Amino acid sequence: MRTYLVTGGAGFIGSNYIHYMFRKYGDEIRIINVDALTYAGNLENLKEVAERSNYTFIKADITDKEAITKIFSENEIDRVVHFAAESHVDRSIKNPEVFVKTNVLGTAVMLNCARESWELPDGSYKEDKKFLHVSTDEVYGSLEDDGTYFYETTPYAPHSPYSASKASSDMLVKAYIDTYHFPANITNCSNNYGPYQFPEKLIPLIINNALLGKKLPVYGDGKNVRDWLYVDDHAKGIDMVQEMGRLGETYNIGGHNEKQNIEIITIILDTLLEMLPEDDARRAHISRDLITYVEDRKGHDRRYAIAPDKIKAEIGWEPETMFKEGIKKTIAWFFEHEEWMKNVTSGDYQNYYKEMYHGK
Ligand code: NAD
Ligand code: TYD
Repeated sequence: MRTYLVTGGAGFIGSNYIHYMFRKYGDEIRIINVDALTYAGNLENLKEVAERSNYTFIKADITDKEAITKIFSENEIDRVVHFAAESHVDRSIKNPEVFVKTNVLGTAVMLNCARESWELPDGSYKEDKKFLHVSTDEVYGSLEDDGTYFYETTPYAPHSPYSASKASSDMLVKAYIDTYHFPANITNCSNNYGPYQFPEKLIPLIINNALLGKKLPVYGDGKNVRDWLYVDDHAKGIDMVQEMGRLGETYNIGGHNEKQNIEIITIILDTLLEMLPEDDARRAHISRDLITYVEDRKGHDRRYAIAPDKIKAEIGWEPETMFKEGIKKTIAWFFEHEEWMKNVTSGDYQNYYKEMYHGK
């Protein structure tokens, strides 16, 4: 039975990945989820799996070398899937240091503990041990609206403290691969959306605000482009890369779901009206009048777009969920999980929102 050490499994993508893996492998695998439970980590995301005998949660910080060393010494870990990170660009602009600590130092600790646990005296590694570092397409910088794409060979050019810290963490993984022949892969994925996404990110924020009749903040001219991927497709891609990818290689994940932010917002408004029952009172306030242009994000990247040619050719992965279908599934999930949204938007979220959007 393979044992997975998942970091950041209580966050958005990590929890979807854990659900995906149990759906796919059932009792054939064991998952240990290590998460510090920052504002973004939420054990409610995992309540359906919490009682499984092949699932363990450990509350720990990935920058805590002692805690991570202990996990490796007490368990025979076969796979590391490293999600844990500070992940929101706007927060990185306000408070960059924690991004460096978690994303760079935390990744260094994870790499070092895995290497110490897996390396044999002759410099080779115990059989079938693999580390997958989950990263972002934002490390490649910004594209013009000119039909070009990010490839694995695109030079790194991060702009925000978030993407700079992720780029640094990728470089550390590459250094471990080159220096120690460490058995790792990196995936650089485009913007994800789906269940359990924290409403600081565009899609859940717009869904929540529209349902409450609150303004929908659009940065700049609203024409920045992101390449949206349904989170289950990402989870599947991570598993396929880890099992079928060539060790030491980077794979871009995403593809061909490019949309301007303003298009995303209008699709969400139209889909909400399509899906809400005729007698639902919230229909009355859901309209384009809620759209409010606000000050642009500092250093706002114009366009991200992934060329998924390598992962398709080598591994056979391609995105399966088109945006129209994915956004319906996501909205349906939010309709069914109103309590979840209420819980995550109480307390600290209110303070964050006031400071970020100046009380609008
Ligand atoms: P998230 O912010 O929803 O979750 C991050 C998780 O990491 C939380 O559970 C948090 O508690 C945990 N965490 C934070 N600091 C920690 C620490 N010091 N020690 C242990 N745990 C800690 O993030 P997400 O959107 O699920 O992103 C997961 C990963 O995927 C990140 O590495 C991110 O860079 C990458 N990624 C995200 C996207 C996206 O669109 N969200 C796209 C591509 C790549
Ligand atoms: P976000 O979900 O924060 O992801 P990222 O910055 O990592 O791509 O933002 C997606 C896009 O939406 C980005 O261009 C910024 C924009 N945006 C808004 O226009 N308004 C908002 O309130 C938020 C959170 C984002």
